[in-house]
Amino acid sequence: MRIVILSRNPNLYSTRRLVEAAQKRKHEVLVVDHLKCNIEIEKKSPKIFYKGEYLENIDAIIPRIGASVTFYGTAVIRQFEMMKVFSAVSSQALVKSRDKLSSLQILARAGVGLPKTVFTNYTKDVEHVVESVGGAPLILKLLEGTQGLGVVLAETKNAATSVLEAFNGLGARVIAQEFIKEAGGADIRAFVVDGKIVGAMKRQGKEGEFRSNLHRGGNATVIELTDEEEKTALKATKALGLGVAGVDMLQSSKGPLVLEVNSSPGLEGIETATGKNIAKEIIRYLEIHVE
Ligand SMILES: Nc1ncnc2c1ncn2[C@@H]1O[C@H](COP(=O)(O)OP(=O)(O)OP(=O)(O)O)[C@@H](O)[C@H]1O
Ligand SMILES: [Mg+2]
Repeated sequence: MRIVILSRNPNLYSTRRLVEAAQKRKHEVLVVDHLKCNIEIEKKSPKIFYKGEYLENIDAIIPRIGASVTFYGTAVIRQFEMMKVFSAVSSQALVKSRDKLSSLQILARAGVGLPKTVFTNYTKDVEHVVESVGGAPLILKLLEGTQGLGVVLAETKNAATSVLEAFNGLGARVIAQEFIKEAGGADIRAFVVDGKIVGAMKRQGKEGEFRSNLHRGGNATVIELTDEEEKTALKATKALGLGVAGVDMLQSSKGPLVLEVNSSPGLEGIETATGKNIAKEIIRYLEIHVE
């Protein structure tokens, strides 16, 4: 096959591992910076121009699109789809998963467990918002945040009110969420490829930190998922239509609760924690679907 990896940086761990895994399985692989692609739209003749030539005879793409360039990245994936190229993550699924609020709505409808979440931009209702998610302490999240930045634990109702008012005043969109205390500053990530769990890890935040993000100093270890956790991760992935996904869940007294489904999940944490060759699983997924 001729495989394109859409990535802004060929030196990133995930990109390097995918290139390696593809070459090992005798595929030709090209790393393409989606921001440097021209999308040519013309009747029955969709084309992508990249670094002086047209990208032709491509069998499959693996999008690794950063959150800050979702719009342009999606347009490039869509163009490949128009060219009948198989994508490990479809443009539609990428858009769905990138909108945190809409993906929570879709997951809720699909019957996936979630921490109770309230979205409002009406400051006068703050009191009711706080009560709806079980009172203080509660979690407030910027809809545009990543890597744990923009996630706040408000210890009291007053603190929650001030933070909500401040965010609203800045025009930032924010959700309030029930605080799952028993998660103990940890979350679990299930890595899903083609409807199967290919690896799972537990991330524990550093001492005194409720956020488990590795970027915030958390550490990761391999875990065995319960049946319920597996089912939840697969259901969430399916609801969003993702071929490759990282499903983040909290272990709660009510069972697994999904926080988020990531459509460009990093490989470094999961491969290091599990010792598994996840990159190879992704390449095999392409092989099966391009056949
Ligand atoms: N409702 C909650 N109850 C308890 N802990 C939570 C809750 N929401 C988030 N956390 C903790 O905070 C961490 C960061 O939250 P979350 O994953 O929602 O935001 P993010 O990591 O900034 O965003 P993204 O995952 O999109 O990069 C989670 O991994 C989890 O450890
Ligand atoms: Mg997260």
